[in-house]
Amino acid sequence: MESYLLLIIEKIILTFPRQLNSTFFNLISFFDKDNQVRTLNYGFAGKLKITLSKDEESLRFGLQMYHHVASKVSLNNKKILEVGCGRGGGASYIAKTFKVKSYLGVDFSSSAIKFCQKYYKNQKNLKFSFAEAHNLPRVRGGFDILINVESSQTYHDEVGFFKEVFKILKKGGYFLLVTPRASEKVDPLINDLKDVGFQVKNVEDITPNVIKALDIDSKRKASLIRQYAPSRFLKKSMEIFSAMPGTYHYNNFKKRDFVYLLKILQKPT
Ligand SMILES: C[S@@+](CC[C@H](N)C(=O)[O-])C[C@H]1O[C@@H](n2cnc3c(N)ncnc32)[C@H](O)[C@@H]1O
Repeated sequence: MESYLLLIIEKIILTFPRQLNSTFFNLISFFDKDNQVRTLNYGFAGKLKITLSKDEESLRFGLQMYHHVASKVSLNNKKILEVGCGRGGGASYIAKTFKVKSYLGVDFSSSAIKFCQKYYKNQKNLKFSFAEAHNLPRVRGGFDILINVESSQTYHDEVGFFKEVFKILKKGGYFLLVTPRASEKVDPLINDLKDVGFQVKNVEDITPNVIKALDIDSKRKASLIRQYAPSRFLKKSMEIFSAMPGTYHYNNFKKRDFVYLLKILQKPT
């Protein structure tokens, strides 16, 4: 009976990812009183082991995802916009590690943005504001680089978002897109990006790196979930959202029904 109930919970969560997503991310802000959850992606484990402060060590795999993405193009002295920045850990890491000119993180979770504005207020080249992915802020001359990590897959109009990114980037600017996807939807996604006008510079399959991170980091996440989830429903939901080993997304990565891709896209000059 119990496992049947848990199965129903999983079905509900997977049927309404968009609606439950924002509720889930607001809940994290509510429960995370010690500010421990500052990255929300599945993580990246590879050969490179980045150097982190003691305070950032628990974010290692989430930050390694950002490091991997950021190391693909030069960010030196660039104006960067991140859409779906969540709790800002990746934004903060990139802004201080890669000598960017300015970094603006936006998200449609107002509680996440409030958290970021307070927590990172001393980083001078880093700002956060509320924005929805289909109506992004503009800067004079356009942004040099747009970063989107594990976010666009739940947008109600992903192509509309790609069009918006194309508008706000300067000519020659880069769009670094990291997203999980059902394997059969990879080609349509790449075609959508080309139709919008982007040049596809590289597509990297980082599924093995993500699985490795999910494996290594699962104990730490399980203990956080135990700490934060007062009910069985919430515990199960958090396990599914975090792709804990044995849950839907993790199993699909293993079977390669889902893949996790990093795409480097450029607006033509
Ligand atoms: C899985 S989290 C990843 C957060 C962050 N990129 C990271 O890796 O830590 C996805 C984020 O996308 C945001 N998001 C989802 N839909 C959005 C939308 N339509 N506009 C802006 N942000 C959105 C969520 O609020 C959430 O913070």
